[in-house]
Order: sequence, then C-alpha cells, then structure tokens
Amino acid sequence: MKIAILGGTGDIGEGLALRLASDTPHRIAIGSRDAEKAENKAEEYTTELDSRGLDAAVTGGENAAVAADARVVVLAVPPYHVGDTVEAIAGSLAAGDVLVSPATGMKRDEDGFHYHKPGAGSVTRIVAEAAPEGVAVVGAFHNLAAARLANLDADLGIDTLVIGDDDDAKTTVTDIAEGIDGLRALDAGGLANAPEIESLTPLLINVAQNNDGMHDLGVQFK
Ligand SMILES: NC(=O)c1ccc[n+]([C@@H]2O[C@H](COP(=O)([O-])OP(=O)(O)OC[C@H]3O[C@@H](n4cnc5c(N)ncnc54)[C@H](OP(=O)(O)O)[C@@H]3O)[C@@H](O)[C@H]2O)c1
Repeated sequence: MKIAILGGTGDIGEGLALRLASDTPHRIAIGSRDAEKAENKAEEYTTELDSRGLDAAVTGGENAAVAADARVVVLAVPPYHVGDTVEAIAGSLAAGDVLVSPATGMKRDEDGFHYHKPGAGSVTRIVAEAAPEGVAVVGAFHNLAAARLANLDADLGIDTLVIGDDDDAKTTVTDIAEGIDGLRALDAGGLANAPEIESLTPLLINVAQNNDGMHDLGVQFK
C-alpha cells in the first residue's frame, strides 16, 4: 500500500516514515508544501535506512502530488493547519481513501503544556469536517514521541489509540500501525472520543519534563 505523510519533513513525519519504511512493506511518500524540500528529506531518510542495511526507498513530492496516488494519507502538520491542508489536497483524494490525524492542539504556560480543545471539539473532528465525501478519517499516533520513533535503535513497547467511525478504515490504520515493531494499536472507539486521546499528549510531555531521566514517553495499557 502507498502511504503519504503530508508534512513528513517534520518531526513526527520523520519518525513515522522511518518506522513504516523499515518495519512494513508499504511504500512511503513524504509530502511537503515544497516539492524540493520533500525530495531532499526523502533522500535523507532513504540514506538513513540504507546505512542500516534496509532496502526501503522513501520518495518525496508536493503534498497534493503524493496524496494523489496514496490510499492512506497521514496529516503530520501543525494542528491549526489540518483543515487548510485537507482543503489544499482535496482534489487529490478519492472515495475509499483514508485520512489519518495524529494532531493535537496544545498551549504552554509556566506550569507546562495544556490541551487546547478547538471549537469543533477536537483536531481529529476538524479533519473529519474538511474531508471530502467518501474519504474516511481515522485518528492515530497522537501519543507517540517523534524522537523515540525516529531513533531506530530505541525499542518502542508502547500503544497507540485508534479512533474512527468507519470500521474498515480503522482496521486499515490498525494494521499499518501494528506493522511497526513494538507498537500495539488499541481500538478506542469512535471519532467522538478524540478529545480524551488528544489531551493525553500534553500530559505525557508534562510528566517527562517534571521527572529526571524521563523523556519521549509513551503509553502502554495493561
Ligand atoms: N512531534 C511529536 O512528537 C508529535 C507526536 C504526536 C503527534 N504530533 C502531531 O503531529 C503534527 C506534526 O507535529 P510535528 O512535531 O512533526 O510538527 P512540525 O515538525 O512543526 O511540522 C511538521 C510539518 O508541517 C508542515 N507545516 C508547517 N506549517 C504548515 C502550514 N501552515 N500548513 C501546512 N503544513 C505546515 C511543515 O512541512 P513543510 O514545510 O515541508 O510543508 C513541517 O515540516 C502536529 O499536529 C502534532 O500535534 C506530534
């Protein structure tokens, strides 16, 4: 399957691209607003994989171009730009495609990070409202730390929560997530449950910042 990671030039995009390319048979394409930036990043990721003896080419291109031939499109862009990013690529999406949202809105003050719930109810809901007819939206990867993913020497041993209202799309994303070594995907229900998942991310950062030796935390449900 071809998976496009829009904003794959950034932190979580890099982590997801490296893990998916190294652990799964899927073809990974990096998207950017700037085609050349995406091509350069894709080359960088391919070199990193190659240095580990992994024969997995990552390609790159402008967001709409990589979305056009992907079945699954991950929106690894800032939370306040998920809506305009979906609108910008809407013409490249076809019925049956799946949009994946890992985004969470946060604010920071002197006490730490706080969940910033958007008026729509969640960032995942903003994506659902912007998605063209027939394109399912699934929330996943919200609570993964980019640096931990991008360090291919790090064992994961963590969970990701998957939400969505379309069961087939949710199964597709669950299978993709579980293809990553050490990552377990758990069904957390429908899109209405997005705020609970999105709000876990600032909690993880606050715990990491207040406890010596803790960084790049994830969650594991037992
Ligand atoms: N970092 C993490 O550990 C982590 C973990 C879980 C979830 N997330 C979520 O994943 C998303 C991306 O996080 P990140 O840390 O990877 O962010 P980031 O590195 O700051 O940005 C990712 C990419 O978004 C693109 N971008 C920037 N401004 C944009 C705009 N106005 N419109 C469209 N695209 C824009 C950029 O790509 P181009 O300039 O190449 O277009 C950039 O490389 C966020 O919504 C975040 O909540 C992050």
